[in-house]
Amino acid sequence: MAESQLTLSATSAHPDTALVRVEHVTRVIATRAQRTAILDDITFSVPARSLFAINGPSGSGKSTLLNMLTGIDRPTSGHIVFAGEEVRKMSENRLARWRGRHVGIVFQFFQLIPTLTARENVQLALQLGGALPRREWRERAHTCLDLVGLADYADRLPSELSGGQQQRIAIARALANDPPALVADEPTGNLDSKTAAQVFGLLEELTQRGKTVIYVTHDPRLAARATARVDLLDGRIVAHAGAEAVVTVYGNGNGNGAAKGAATAREAQP
Ligand SMILES: Nc1ncnc2c1ncn2[C@@H]1O[C@H](COP(=O)(O)OP(=O)(O)OP(=O)(O)O)[C@@H](O)[C@H]1O
Ligand SMILES: [Mg+2]
Repeated sequence: MAESQLTLSATSAHPDTALVRVEHVTRVIATRAQRTAILDDITFSVPARSLFAINGPSGSGKSTLLNMLTGIDRPTSGHIVFAGEEVRKMSENRLARWRGRHVGIVFQFFQLIPTLTARENVQLALQLGGALPRREWRERAHTCLDLVGLADYADRLPSELSGGQQQRIAIARALANDPPALVADEPTGNLDSKTAAQVFGLLEELTQRGKTVIYVTHDPRLAARATARVDLLDGRIVAHAGAEAVVTVYGNGNGNGAAKGAATAREAQP
C-alpha cells in the first residue's frame, strides 16, 4: 500500500476526543415470563483514531452492542452519540444516510453481493452513499480496491475470490464513502489464522492512517492488539482500557441491579 495511493481522509477529531460516546446503555429483552438485560448500564467512549476492541465470550453482548452503535438495534435506555449524532433519535431514513457517510460496516461473513464483481460491490456502496457523482465511482472503487491490495481482482465475482480476499473487498466497500469509522463484527472470525492476520493488519493500518476501527472479538490475542477496549461479560463491562468506561462490577447483582463501581475501574489485562 503505497502512500501515494492513499486517498482516505482521517477522522477529523483530535485523538483525545471521543468519536463515540456510549452512556448508560441498556438493552432489555422482555418475554412473558421475564425481563433480561442483555446489555446492562454500558458506559464508555471510543477515542478518535483508535483501534477499539469490544471483547468478550460468546453471548456476552458484543454484537448487540456493536449493532447499537450503528443504529441497527436500538437501546432500551441510554444514549449513544456517534460522530456528533445521537443515534437513537434518527429516523430509519436518516440513519441509513448517516451510516452511508459516517460508518463502514464489515461483517464476519463478508456479505458481498454474489452476482456483482468486486468493483461493482464497491460501486454499489458509492451509489447508496450518494456523495460522489456517478462518473467518479469507477475511479474511487479502483482506489479503494488498490488500498486493500486487490486492484487486479476488480472484475472477479466473490465466488472467484478466497475468504481473505472477499473480506478485503468488503473492507474496500466499507471505505468507499471515506467514513471516519469502520465497525466490524468478528471480521477475521471466518478466516484461517494466516489470512486473519493479514486482514487484521489491514484494519490496524487503517487506524494508523486516521480511521477509527471498532471491532468485536472473542480472541484475547486480537483484543490485546487494540489501542483501547472494553471487555464484556453477561452484558456488563468488566474491564476496560483507554475507554473511560464506568465499570460495572460483575458478580454481585441479580442481573439487573448490580452495584456500579465507577471508582474501581481497572485496566483490562491484555
Ligand atoms: N433478539 C434477541 N432476543 C433474545 N435474546 C437475544 C436477542 N439478541 C441477543 N440475545 C441474547 O443476548 C445475549 C448477547 O447476544 P450477542 O449476540 O450480543 O452476543 P455476542 O457476544 O455477540 O456472542 P457471539 O460471540 O456468540 O457472537 C445472548 O445471550 C443472546 O442469546
Ligand atoms: Mg456476536
